[in-house]
Amino acid sequence: MGKIVVVGSINVDMVFTSDKRPKAGETVIGNTFSLIPGGKGANQAVAASKLGADTYMIGCVGNDSNGEFSLKNLRDMKVNTRAVKIVDKAPTGLANIIVADNDNSIIVIPGANFEMDKDVIKENKALLLSADMVLLQLEIPMEVVEYVVDICAENKVRVLINPAPAAPLKKSLIEKATYITPNEHELRLIFDNQETDAVLKQYPNKLIVTMGSRGVKYHDGNEIREVPSNKVDVVDTTGAGDTFCGALAAALVRGDSIEGAVIFANKAASFTVTRLGAQSGMPELADLL
Ligand code: RIB
Repeated sequence: MGKIVVVGSINVDMVFTSDKRPKAGETVIGNTFSLIPGGKGANQAVAASKLGADTYMIGCVGNDSNGEFSLKNLRDMKVNTRAVKIVDKAPTGLANIIVADNDNSIIVIPGANFEMDKDVIKENKALLLSADMVLLQLEIPMEVVEYVVDICAENKVRVLINPAPAAPLKKSLIEKATYITPNEHELRLIFDNQETDAVLKQYPNKLIVTMGSRGVKYHDGNEIREVPSNKVDVVDTTGAGDTFCGALAAALVRGDSIEGAVIFANKAASFTVTRLGAQSGMPELADLL
């Protein structure tokens, strides 16, 4: 069992389901509403923990009931929360999620997630250095992401960046990361609209591109490898990318090859989309074996 430290966001997801996605200026009657633990960081931590990794979270929540709800959920999922700071300045992060037409649209209000700063990282540097792998997403300030990657690179700690939501990445950050897991939209934004295969060839065994129902692509040093998705009945795609990243990290730290880890993570992501909510459908190890 390897040790994973996730540095990232913690949100509460307000999930509305509807047969129809409202257009600008339109009101539609929906079907259901749920309050569900979310946030890309927390989702990835839960995915890794459920799949057997010893998982720690570094992040911030507000001093409010949503913060308590999020922390309790992480603890229930056996994610260690001793490095999650409770801040007074901002409320716990929120996400407004509409699930309609087999897809989702999300607005995130970062709140406490944007209170993450270099001091929070300095306070937890020993934890970072003890990790077999550190996971990052882009729902916390970019300067914190860059600071963590610098520390990891200087100390030879493997670091996986999931560049979501999409934002440009500095070339130096790309060079220092061990793994980067964009979807195709994020890939185009980061690599100046270059074609997927052209970019993959430049970053063998580092860049792993998720393509939704079309599977995953990476370059193994010799050729581009494609892992198709498993065909499932989709209920909600929210958190599929997070499950992929958490599962990929869990497999890599236990010693799987990239090929094995990608196949495993792809299976885990397919499992997740059969249930409503980012974390609700995440598999345990037994589900995948
Ligand atoms: O990736 C899905 C997540 O994005 C949701 O849980 C929501 O909180 C947003 O952060």
